[in-house]
Amino acid sequence: MAAPLARPAPERPQFVRNTWYIAALRSELDGPMLARTILGTSVNLYRTSDGTPVALRNRCPHRGYPLSEGTLGPDDVITCGYHGFRFGPDGTCLSVPGQQAVPAHADVQTYPVVENGPFVWIWMGDPALADPAEIPAETGFADPSFTFVPGHVVIDANHQLIADNVLDLSHESFIHATKIGTRDVAETGITSRSDESRWLVEASRIMPDAECPPTYRERTGLQSPIDREQHIHYFVPALYVLDVSVVKAASVHDPADGPRRPYLGKVVYGLTPLSARRTHYFFAIGRDYALGDAAMDEAVREGQLCLIEEDAAAVAILQELEDEEGPSPEVSTRLDTAALIARRMLARRLRAEAAAPASAR
Ligand code: FES
Ligand SMILES: [Fe+2]
Repeated sequence: MAAPLARPAPERPQFVRNTWYIAALRSELDGPMLARTILGTSVNLYRTSDGTPVALRNRCPHRGYPLSEGTLGPDDVITCGYHGFRFGPDGTCLSVPGQQAVPAHADVQTYPVVENGPFVWIWMGDPALADPAEIPAETGFADPSFTFVPGHVVIDANHQLIADNVLDLSHESFIHATKIGTRDVAETGITSRSDESRWLVEASRIMPDAECPPTYRERTGLQSPIDREQHIHYFVPALYVLDVSVVKAASVHDPADGPRRPYLGKVVYGLTPLSARRTHYFFAIGRDYALGDAAMDEAVREGQLCLIEEDAAAVAILQELEDEEGPSPEVSTRLDTAALIARRMLARRLRAEAAAPASAR
């Protein structure tokens, strides 16, 4: 008797869809139409003539040609560059060549988009659930005491490998030893909390009398010892905010010098899956000092790109090994607590989304 056919394993949803993902820098929408793959789907991003950002599925319903390869007219109508179907910014197919009637199912899917801080954010799930107020205020983008340097790179790794990286900052002591890492980071324990109602994981590390790492020495003029703090807010799966603070250590502070004023920084990362093994890594590096200092902006940008290069190399190695061998067995420590909470929360969020009625997906 023939063996029964194996039932295919149910497909595991890879990506949370009902959340805001960073899709682009605002400035990227000032030029020609922008093709960007998000959650494995090619999206066409552009602004209408009044500046409103728009996101459309970037495949023409006729034969799938990218709409971003077409032309955008002053009337905000896109003409497909292959055979000339025409589309409005609401995705409606307005006309097709060679016949009066527009065929059925010729409209293009649109996605909610909103501008917040230096970024354009996109909602790839159910449009009825897209509430711009859900973009967390913890980014600090609305706080005028901060200035931000934004940027974008693509990393050859799954977004979960990157989340692991940014949630366990003890790697700074090794991967970034010449820039922001000192032994204090790896040697100091973290406290962590979670808030499922916001899909939020928090982790804090307080480092009194710490060594001042080279990058902070250069940017602030501080010398060791310093009091250093790191506070993470990670909104699973797409947004990571790290608040950092450095100040001359209280133990060596002379009260005659007046109050100690900490230098505050914000590290905002948008982790937007491009595919299962590539991730858009948007960053906005904030500071509450040297506002309006263009040379500092440039130093911050270059410094950040160097840090990302170091992280990207590490996670790309892990991705390559995972491609070849599958996931590695793991041994975790107390410093992994936040990353482990986040992984479990992501699994629950994916399950919750998969179980929700279609209209809520
Ligand atoms: S593929 Fe767009 S009109 Fe043919
Ligand atoms: Fe890093």
